Amino acid sequence: MAARAREAGAVLRRVTGASVEENVPLAGLTSWRTGGEARYLITVNTPGSLIDSVRALHDTGVPLLVLGNGSNVLVADSGFSGAVMRLKNQMATVEVDGHAIAVGAGALLGAAVSKALRSSLSGLEFAVGIPGTVGGAVMTNAGTFAGSIAASLVSVEAVDRSGGILTVEEFEDVYRTALLADGLIVAAARFDLHPEDSASVRSRMDEVRSRREGSQPQGTATAGSVFKNPPGEAAGRLLDQCGLKGASVGGAAVSDVHANFIINNGTATSADIKALIDLMAREVDDAFGVRLEPEVRLIGFKES
Ligand code: EPU
Repeated sequence: MAARAREAGAVLRRVTGASVEENVPLAGLTSWRTGGEARYLITVNTPGSLIDSVRALHDTGVPLLVLGNGSNVLVADSGFSGAVMRLKNQMATVEVDGHAIAVGAGALLGAAVSKALRSSLSGLEFAVGIPGTVGGAVMTNAGTFAGSIAASLVSVEAVDRSGGILTVEEFEDVYRTALLADGLIVAAARFDLHPEDSASVRSRMDEVRSRREGSQPQGTATAGSVFKNPPGEAAGRLLDQCGLKGASVGGAAVSDVHANFIINNGTATSADIKALIDLMAREVDDAFGVRLEPEVRLIGFKES
C-alpha cells in the first residue's frame, strides 16, 4: 500500500487543476471535529482534474473517499489511508438556468437554496438548514419533514471509479438512501424549480428554519441525526424514552435538546462518539427490539 500510495501521490501531483496535500488531519474537515489523518487530501477544482485524479487512483488501486462538507461522517481516529477528495471552484458553482438551478457537487446545498430564493424559484425550501454539499445531499437523499432532494432533482452528472462520465436522470426517492449507485461520484446536479413570488418562498423557508431551530441543538459540534428513523417511528423519540439525553462517553454526549444528536463537548475522540453510538443502539434494541441504523457514515472503522 505504501508503494502504491507513493505512486498515486506522484501522479496526482501532476494533475492540472488539482492540489494535493499529504497527511492532513480530517478533524478540521468534519462537523464533529474528530478523526485522524488522510494520507492524501486532493482538492479538485475543474471537471478535467476530477477525471484525471479518479483515473490515477483507480490505476494505482488507492482507495478514494469523496468528502463533502463533512457534516454527516465519523472518521476513525486512525484516519483514512487512501485519498480524500474535495470538490471546489469550478466544481462548486451555482447557476440559474431558466427555472432550473445547476450546481457543482462541491457547492453547499445552502448556496443553492439562497440562489433559489433570490431568483424567486420554489422547490428547495425544504432544504433550509441542511449543512452539506450538493454531492453529499445526493448521496444521502438529504431531507427534512418538508421534503427531500429526490423531489426536485432532474439530473446528475457523475463520474465512475475509472473516470467514465455519465448522466443519471432517474432516481428512486427512498428515505435517506443514496440516489446514485455505490462508487459513483457526483460532479454536478440540476434541480427543476418553479417561479413563485419570493415572499411565499421566504415564508416557507422561515417555517422550515424555525421548526429546526426549535427542536435541534444549535451552534455545537454535531453531525445532525445519528440514526435514520425506523419505519413509522422516530429514532429521537425512542432514544429519549430510554433516558439517553445527557448520556456521555468521554467528551461525547447525547444532546439535551434532541436525543438523536451527539455533541462533541470539545474533547471527544471518534472512539468516544462510536462507543456512544453503539450504546444508544444497544439501549433501543434492549428496550424496544428496534435495530437503529446509523445515518452518519462511518469511515475507517472495522465494520464499515
Ligand atoms: N422526539 C422526542 N425526543 C427527542 C427528539 C425527538 O420525543 O429528543 C420526538 C419529537 O417530539 C417528534 C419526533 O420525535 O415527535 C420526531 O422528531 P423531530 O421532529 O425532531 O424530527 P426527526 O425525525 O428527529 C428529522 C430528520 C432531520 C430533520 C428533521 C426536521 C431524520 C433521521 N432526521 O428529524 O434531519 O432536520 O426531521 O425536518 O430523518 C439529519 O438527517 O441529519 C437531520 C437533522
